[in-house]
Amino acid sequence: MKIITVVGARPQFIKAAVVSHKLREEHEEILVHTGQHYDYNMSETFFEELDIPKPDYNLGISGGTHGQMTGKMLIAIEELLLKEQPDWLLVYGDTNSTLAAALAAAKLHIPICHVEAGARTHSKTNPEEMNRICTDHLSSLLLASTQSGMDSLKKENLSDRGYLVGDPMYDAFCSYSDRFQARDVILIGLDGKACTLPKDFYYLTCHREENTNDDQSLAEILKAMDDLDAPTIYPVHPRNKERVKRLQTRYGFEQICFTEPVGYLESIFLVNHAIKIVTDSGGLQREAFFAKKKCVTILDFVVWPETMVDNRNHLARPEKEDILAKLQLEQFIRKDYQPFGDGNAAQKIVDLISR
Ligand code: UD1
Ligand code: UDP
Repeated sequence: MKIITVVGARPQFIKAAVVSHKLREEHEEILVHTGQHYDYNMSETFFEELDIPKPDYNLGISGGTHGQMTGKMLIAIEELLLKEQPDWLLVYGDTNSTLAAALAAAKLHIPICHVEAGARTHSKTNPEEMNRICTDHLSSLLLASTQSGMDSLKKENLSDRGYLVGDPMYDAFCSYSDRFQARDVILIGLDGKACTLPKDFYYLTCHREENTNDDQSLAEILKAMDDLDAPTIYPVHPRNKERVKRLQTRYGFEQICFTEPVGYLESIFLVNHAIKIVTDSGGLQREAFFAKKKCVTILDFVVWPETMVDNRNHLARPEKEDILAKLQLEQFIRKDYQPFGDGNAAQKIVDLISR
């Protein structure tokens, strides 16, 4: 079969890294990069490090409002689908690239396979929630990463098209975790100078619209990290680089090492070696769980309920005291609790598409 895969953002490149090669053993894949993430360290570095096939098309669409970005992608992807006439469209997750591709394919009656189906925040103001719900309802094959995803599909009368395959992010974590050692990690500060990797550190990522639209929330998060007993490594998403620089000038934050975004191999090294993790990323919450690291999530909704057990992951408000209090709660690890599959989600995805 001829399958068009559409990716555009960092976490989608990582999922494609584990699925694309397997897919190509049985099918013809055409890989389309919308261009949503475009800086070298937000895009190309993942293709190089993870040996992801070079995109056949890069649409070069990024930025603007949600509507502008999604609309431009919709037009470009429709043209491409008409030209290539694929048998299936494959999409991952919940970004604007995912929604645009799904909408274009659905109108052309091209069946859609959605990986990470059924994930729900139940927060209708969360921009990704709209993308997830619409994509699921337009898709023919819904592949959930966890049982809670399957449960959501059932509630929305979608379970006849749903299958539990596990989380391809767990596949990637299992495959790539051992690749990097401390000496391989290169951290470039926002001032362009190299940063030394501390022996003990916390790992912070923060890029959600919910936390980065005003100074107040981000300042509180950074004040919490600055108050800890070890330094924090914080690779800054380009979305909030200017805000971060401004806050750094104002408050100093001597205990925080602000860096450019890191590659995936660096990122999972940091996950595996951090004391604890603070994030608003869906991917990083799961990786903290895979690495058995305590996580605090700065959001007011749960995306991955499976991680919210045994004090392993807590929601916190973007307030210094709440973050510090949640970090104090000691986690408990149950050895046989692994709700994200067996590390073979990619093969299951390909098998289901083939079937
Ligand atoms: C997007 C996804 C989010 C996902 C995240 C992964 C949507 C609605 N959101 O959020 O689900 O968690 O990707 O990281 O699709 N920018 C750059 N260089 C880049 C990429 C972005 O400068 O390489 C800037 C652009 O000015 C852009 C802003 O960052 O306007 C935000 O980027 P965008 O892709 O819209 O959203 P993300 O926050 O990355
Ligand atoms: N990540 C990375 N470099 C960074 C920050 C994160 O490679 O500087 C990785 C992280 O380990 C995880 C993925 O990017 O695998 C998560 O992506 P992101 O937080 O951008 O999106 P989300 O998962 O929230 O959709």
